[in-house]
Amino acid sequence: MNRIPETMSWKGGLDGYLVLLDQTKLPREHVEVDCKTVEDVWQSIKRLAVRGAPAIGCAAAYGVCLSEPELAEVEQACDYLATSRPTAVNLFWALNRMRETAQQTSTLAPHQFAEALLTEARAIREEDRQMCTDIGNHGADLLADLPVGSGILTHCNAGALATAGDGTALSVIFELARRKRKPHVWVDETRPLLQGARLTTWELMQRGIDCTLICDSMAAQVMREGRVQAIVTGADRIAANGDAANKIGTYGVATLAKVHDIPFYIAAPTSTFDVSLTNGSEIPIEQRDVEEITCGFGTPTAPEKVSVYNPAFDVTPVELIAGIITEQGVKRY
Ligand code: MRU
Repeated sequence: MNRIPETMSWKGGLDGYLVLLDQTKLPREHVEVDCKTVEDVWQSIKRLAVRGAPAIGCAAAYGVCLSEPELAEVEQACDYLATSRPTAVNLFWALNRMRETAQQTSTLAPHQFAEALLTEARAIREEDRQMCTDIGNHGADLLADLPVGSGILTHCNAGALATAGDGTALSVIFELARRKRKPHVWVDETRPLLQGARLTTWELMQRGIDCTLICDSMAAQVMREGRVQAIVTGADRIAANGDAANKIGTYGVATLAKVHDIPFYIAAPTSTFDVSLTNGSEIPIEQRDVEEITCGFGTPTAPEKVSVYNPAFDVTPVELIAGIITEQGVKRY
């Protein structure tokens, strides 16, 4: 069933390197990027060659293993990688684990120190894989009463490409399909970088799951037509009160869901929770290059020098969220 190329892999042993599937080239080309320096990993995260909150965390953990095996160097690598993207808390969560491992093993010989770091990076990835499986099971249990063939809408890409496993939101859908519930997935294209159109439909089609691509602006009409029975998206950071940041447009989808009385769920591992933040207003929102809007994929679509606002994420208030599907079960606020 799984024919998706690996999102990331570590080639070789202690002196190995990180190989990423370049997601900016999908679905037309399958290009791998060899990351042999910390800077290579930083660049790959920044330009979205690797993207999706859990995958960013895993890639950054491996990135730390590319620094010199010495505490000061590792801490510098952690600080540097932390500047690649601001919103997904999984990045900082994974880097904190790597930093703690480095601090606890800094007195070991360089070889053993490097081994401890690589072991920790592999553990972060392995745990993420398991979290995806568990999220899939909890989510499919939650949606078990939906009629066979129900419509499920998703936004952005929260699939295998965004994690070390089967994804978060898509893991729920894959598990429903395994249970013969025949979900039909409505995929928002996800302006401006089209993660839905380029990545989510690609993943679903590879796995033989029915899906229909729509422009983001069509979601309201599709809901009104009664085609959507539930909505499941991922998240990049969830505050202590349950407010959840995800790809720009998610808040709009959740608002529409409320109007149409459709349950809106978030699927995310506990590594996406940031309980140090009281509510979603404290979540830092990444602002990206204006050219993503004025010249998307190399085609100018707006007058030169037009004023542009390009926040990459928005925050869905907890009142609009019917439940958050985690690896530990469904949280309700
Ligand atoms: O800018 P991106 O593509 O990294 O944004 C990704 C998302 O918003 C995902 O929905 C989120 O990271 C969850 S991935 C399991």
